[in-house]
Amino acid sequence: MGERWYTESVIYCLDVETFQDSNGDGIGDFQGLISRLDYLTRLGINCLWLHPIHPTPGRDDGYDATDFYNVDPRLGTLGDFAELLHEAANRGIKVIIDLVVNHTSDEHPWFQSAVASKDSPYRDWFVWADKEPADRFQGMVFPGEQAETWTYHRRARAWYYHRFYDFQPDLNFANPLVRAEIKKILAFWIQLGVAGFRMDAVPFIIELTEPGRSEAPMDFDYLTELRQHIQWRRGDAVLLAEANVEPEKLPEYFGDAGGSANRIHMLFDFMLNGRLVLALARQNPEPVIEWLKTTPKLPAGGQWATFLRNHDEIDLSRLTAEQREDVFEQFGPDEDMRLYDRGIRRRLGPMLGGDRSRLELAYSLQFTLRGTPVLRYGEEIGMGEDLTQAGRYAIRTPMQWSYATNGGFSDAEPIRPVISKGEWGFEQVNVTAQRHDPASLLAWFERMIRTLRESPEVGNGTCACVDQPLPPGVLVHRADGPTGSMLFLHNLGTDDVTVDLGNLAGDTDHPNEVFANQEYDEVGDFTALRLSGYGYRWIRLRRGAA
Ligand code: GLC
Ligand code: CA
Repeated sequence: MGERWYTESVIYCLDVETFQDSNGDGIGDFQGLISRLDYLTRLGINCLWLHPIHPTPGRDDGYDATDFYNVDPRLGTLGDFAELLHEAANRGIKVIIDLVVNHTSDEHPWFQSAVASKDSPYRDWFVWADKEPADRFQGMVFPGEQAETWTYHRRARAWYYHRFYDFQPDLNFANPLVRAEIKKILAFWIQLGVAGFRMDAVPFIIELTEPGRSEAPMDFDYLTELRQHIQWRRGDAVLLAEANVEPEKLPEYFGDAGGSANRIHMLFDFMLNGRLVLALARQNPEPVIEWLKTTPKLPAGGQWATFLRNHDEIDLSRLTAEQREDVFEQFGPDEDMRLYDRGIRRRLGPMLGGDRSRLELAYSLQFTLRGTPVLRYGEEIGMGEDLTQAGRYAIRTPMQWSYATNGGFSDAEPIRPVISKGEWGFEQVNVTAQRHDPASLLAWFERMIRTLRESPEVGNGTCACVDQPLPPGVLVHRADGPTGSMLFLHNLGTDDVTVDLGNLAGDTDHPNEVFANQEYDEVGDFTALRLSGYGYRWIRLRRGAA
């Protein structure tokens, strides 16, 4: 891999507790994950993002930690974690972990000490108000599940701030001791061998909250400081941030010192996510094209992380009401499939009606657009959701490995039920079945990822839409980089079409179709490229720079 490994990676995210149980207690663990690394190697991914691994009361699925310097004993020991890092490295897989330092669990010893006395050394580690703040009912992230952002604490005799649930008190970033401690946490995990962090809730970390002031000032310099800190500890460590903010604010997160990103390396492209889903719903690529054209230009070294599904709801809040309605109608028709008035709590398989060709189209498009693709566990076999589970847990069911008890996840009563029976049950959808079937979705993902890794210009080159009249539903884009040029055709509609790209013929000597949804005729002079409904074609135009 090149120097900037994160631009040529495929990131796979999973929650250790729902991936593979090794000791029969119904909870996935590090040893279980180690036993599945060969599976991930074969799939072709080269970076793992682990959801929070710290000790936790588990009221927000681990996004509520009680100790940042340890692992949840249910997952194993720090020794098991170190072994995981070693085994992953042996297979060329880097591991990044979730860093959730906007807040702690209210059971964290720091908060416990802070509420016990005004004189506690940890009192000022959290954000307090003596009187009820005027913005008490503003800025909730989980409408319907969260009533306020300031809550009165009887023992503390004061109001504390929590951007998320009331059991997740925000740390006070105005306090230099907190800032120093966070650096220590990053350094600790880097020392153990992690390759970076998925930074949770970054806009809220750098916000300098004051009671009654809902628009808090933002301290971007802290991101510069963190970047300096980790880069000196480990040269190739990366920060991948969750910052679901207005597009014009995104560049500040990357920073720009003389043209180079000097804060976060990678940001999730939430805008693209909403637009991809809208484009799929409308069978029209316009929303994606528009976003690709207007995306803020990134400083050198800055990178997007693309995704279709993650562990949260699909957030449609940056779409217009009309656009959101179109998506809801297509992909979340039942009230029960929606969440927080803005999102969909489903996996992509069922959202697309289990339509294999449409699923391939969607993932082919995500993986070929600029940036580093992130794939959520289970999507590669087309897992479904369990709407009987509360909120976001619908899409957090255990991995479906085989026909065995509990889908091979565990012999014991699993921590969360494995989807069973019916179209999405483990009896139908599992890794073993798909391993034996060269035509399976899993086999398709393996081929697709392998082909992508032979096409580094997607991750580290430029991405441009081919701007010319095209049949409805069709998106054509190209990737150009030092290693060569690739052309991609995607048909979001159901009609078979023929695309004329004759003007590109001069751009290539020996065009080579490296991946497609079916056998097509020779590319020829590009004037009559057939494309089936939901079809896609990846064509290498050239190797080496133009
Ligand atoms: C992020 C996580 C989400 C979590 C929240 C609070 O948005 O993705 O799962 O609930 O932060 O930590
Ligand atoms: Ca276990």
